[in-house]
Formats: sequence, C-alpha cells, structure tokens
Amino acid sequence: MSVLTGAKPRRNPKNFPLHRTLPGFLKDPLRELERISAVAGGGVPRLDLGIVKPLLVTRPDHLQAVLRNTDTYARDGIFWRPLNDLMGDGILGEGGESWAVSRKVLQPVFTLRNVRSLTGRLAETINAAVDELEPAARSGRPVAAGAEMTRIVNRTVVQIFFGGKIGPAETARLAPAFEAVIAALAFRVLLPFLPDRLAPRGRSYREGVRTIDDVMFGLVERYRDDPGDGLDIFTALCRARTEPGSGLTDKWVRDNLVGMYSAGTETTATALSWLWPLLCAHPEVAARLYEEIDRVVGRDRVGPEHLEGLAYTRQVVQELLRLYPVGWQFPRMAVRDTTLDGFSVKAGQTLLISPYLTHRLASVWERPAEFDPDRFAPEHTAGRHRYAYFPFGGGPHQCVGNHLFQIEAQLIAASVLSRFRPEPAGPVPSRPAMGRTLRPEHELRMRLVPIEERA
Ligand code: HEM
Repeated sequence: MSVLTGAKPRRNPKNFPLHRTLPGFLKDPLRELERISAVAGGGVPRLDLGIVKPLLVTRPDHLQAVLRNTDTYARDGIFWRPLNDLMGDGILGEGGESWAVSRKVLQPVFTLRNVRSLTGRLAETINAAVDELEPAARSGRPVAAGAEMTRIVNRTVVQIFFGGKIGPAETARLAPAFEAVIAALAFRVLLPFLPDRLAPRGRSYREGVRTIDDVMFGLVERYRDDPGDGLDIFTALCRARTEPGSGLTDKWVRDNLVGMYSAGTETTATALSWLWPLLCAHPEVAARLYEEIDRVVGRDRVGPEHLEGLAYTRQVVQELLRLYPVGWQFPRMAVRDTTLDGFSVKAGQTLLISPYLTHRLASVWERPAEFDPDRFAPEHTAGRHRYAYFPFGGGPHQCVGNHLFQIEAQLIAASVLSRFRPEPAGPVPSRPAMGRTLRPEHELRMRLVPIEERA
C-alpha cells in the first residue's frame, strides 16, 4: 500500500469547467490536455468532459501509487468496455483469475532470455521483409513509412506468435481483419459513452471478428492436441490448454491470441512509423545514428551479434517513445472510495493516465518538447523516477512485449538504415493524431536512397 494513500483530505483542483476547456478540446484535444496537466501542477484535477469526469493523474509518484495498486484501481471502466467483447477473457481482460492464468502462461515467453533466443529468426524475417523495399529504392519510387512498418511488423509478429504453424493464406486473412476491427473501434474507444445505436460498429467490424475467429479457432482445432515444443505464444497457450485439469478452453486460447495480436502489432508499427519523420526533422540525430549503424553493422545483414553495439539506436527508440508513447492513455477505475496523496477519489471514478502527458511535464523533464536521445545515455538516467518514463505502463499490468519491442525496433531500424537513407518525398508530419494509438498526423512519403548510390 502506498504512503500516498489515506493522507489528509485535499481539494482536487477544479478550475477546468467544460465551457472553458471545450474550445481547446475542439481545436486540439492533446494540446488542451497538455495545458491542463501543466496548469494543474501535480494536483489531481477533475476533468469535465461532459458525460465523463475523469481525474487526471500525471505525477510520477501518483502514477506509481495507482498502477501498482490493482486492488483499488482496476483496469476497468467505461474506456475499457468497448474492447471487452473482442478481447474476451484473456490477458487483456479486466483482471481476476483468467487474466492471472493468462499472464502466468504468457510472461515466460517474453523474458529477455527467451526473446534473445528468438532474435536470430526475428532478424532473418526482418531482413527478408526489408529486401522487398529494394525495387522501390532502386527506382526512386517513394514509399509510405507507416504502411511499410506495418508490413514488416506483421511478418515478425507472425513468427513470434505462431512459429511456423500458420500458413500464408491465413496470415493474409488476419492482418486486414485486425485492421478493420481496430479502425471500427477507434472512435468508440475515444467516445466510449456513446450508446451503440449512435456509433454502431458496422459490417466491417462484424466481418473482421468473424474472420479472426475463423482463423484462430481453426488453428486451435488443428494444433490443440499436439502443440509441439516451439517457443512461440501459440504453442505456449495450446500446451497450457491441454494440460490435464487445466480447465482452459479453446475460447481462452483464442482470446489470448486476439489480445496479444491487438496489443503487439499496431503499437509496434505505429511507434516505428515515428522514427522516419523524427530522423528527417533532426539531421544531427540521424547523422549519429547512421554513423553507429555503419560502424556496427556495415554491409552485413543485421543479426543478434549487432544488438549490443547499437546503443545509440536504442536511445533513439527510447526517446521516440517518450515524445510519442503510442499507448498514450490507459485509464483505471477506482473500485472503492479512497484518497491519492490526500486528493479525494470516489468509487467508480475514472482516472486518466497518460504517459504522453507525464513525458511532457516541465516539472519532470528538462526541455520536454525537444527530441534528445541523449536523455537515455546511461549517465543521464540515474536518479530518474521509475514513473517519469512509462511507455509500457507499470505494476502488474506492465507490458509483456517490452523486451520484444526494443529488440524488434533496433533490428528494423538497423536493417533499413544499413542499406538505405530516408529522404522526405512530401510534408513531414510533426504532430500526433489522437486515436486509439498515437499516430503521426499523416503518412510520411519517403524515398529510400540505396547507400552505395550516395557514396
Ligand atoms: C511500442 C510498443 C508497445 C507499447 C508502447 C506498449 C504499451 C503497453 C502499455 C502502456 C501497457 C499497459 C496497459 C495497462 O496498464 O492498462 C501494455 C500492456 C500490454 N502489452 Fe504492450 N506495448 C507495446 C508492445 C507490445 C508487444 C510487442 C506486445 C506483445 C507481443 C505487447 C503486449 C502487451 C500485453 C499482453 C499487455 C497487457 C499486460 C497485462 O495486462 O497483464 N505489447 N502495453
């Protein structure tokens, strides 16, 4: 239990009535939230968003108290409910026994040791996907940065999730089905209080779910009784399902596959889609990054042996997730009356938690709006509060894909940049668009110039 709980009652700052904030929210909701969190100065203000009135929690010590205390602050509430019927009862469920069993089965798949042992195969998959950029690069044809990241990430995810157990036809059905479902849910996740009849999910959502179920249940049916001994997620889930007396069902395997796919694909691809606009806008960072990749990878194909030398690449990715933490908000709901650092919190109240806001607080970060990967150099990270930087959340629900993402990101950046240099072929996005994840406001079209053509 945190020392911040149960202290003397304090008044929640209340100077954010809707009539004052609405113009700002209509113009640029993220900027308005940033403004409010700066003005609140570490208090816990109640935001008036019309139908919902969440508390805004931004201070690192407050975040620690909330995220670690799942008995008082559950991952439940109006913002999560639109996802429940898609995610079912697995790792992305509300918590409780089924979440705990899922976490116990899945977490070991993602230990640093396990992910490292998969790095060789991951690198091969990534290099092969990057090879496909060659024709566009040779002909000078621009590519869409975000779409290419999605393509490359989808290939790697299939490898980590299913080992060799899924065929190309099934893979080709899954990716667009997930895209359709996630696109249909985006609006609903931002405006969860709208009744279904005003924001129906529509045919593309229903068809997407049908395709996903079809593929997932088909795979479970095929492998359930003989899962083999792969290190992938699917095999781990099937093995747990078939253990005598497990009580787990095919639906549990499906729910976890859907949860993992949703949590691991769009986040990773969106995060990496920020790399290219940031490099175009910061030539000094780009030059250091290219120097490191040229020195460490050179003309080789990137592999596990290069990761350790790619320290600056890692810092660039960490800083990218500070400015654009793609999982930009993940609310909690108080399950009982309590206080947070003396501020009153009522049972049923939503707490808005946003790494985007905390990562941009001037009280926490120097020059918060500046892109500066040196913040993550080892000599600068000591003494930083654990929750000053939390793009992967924290506490019992902390992201299980953290290590996988870091390795995937280093490999993808190094694989592309050891062969090509990006040059913008259109406007460079600089603002995020608010959605389920935090994407660049528009696609970056870029040319990938083969390195030898520049020499
Ligand atoms: C840039 C990449 C990623 C970001 C920014 C990210 C962010 C997050 C955040 C903020 C949470 C906490 C949610 C909460 O507390 O309510 C989370 C949870 C989760 N993430 Fe990630 N994630 C990323 C990549 C991945 C990948 C690659 C996977 C899987 C392979 C993954 C699987 C999960 C799962 C399963 C959870 C739920 C854990 C639980 O509730 O026990 N994520 N992620």
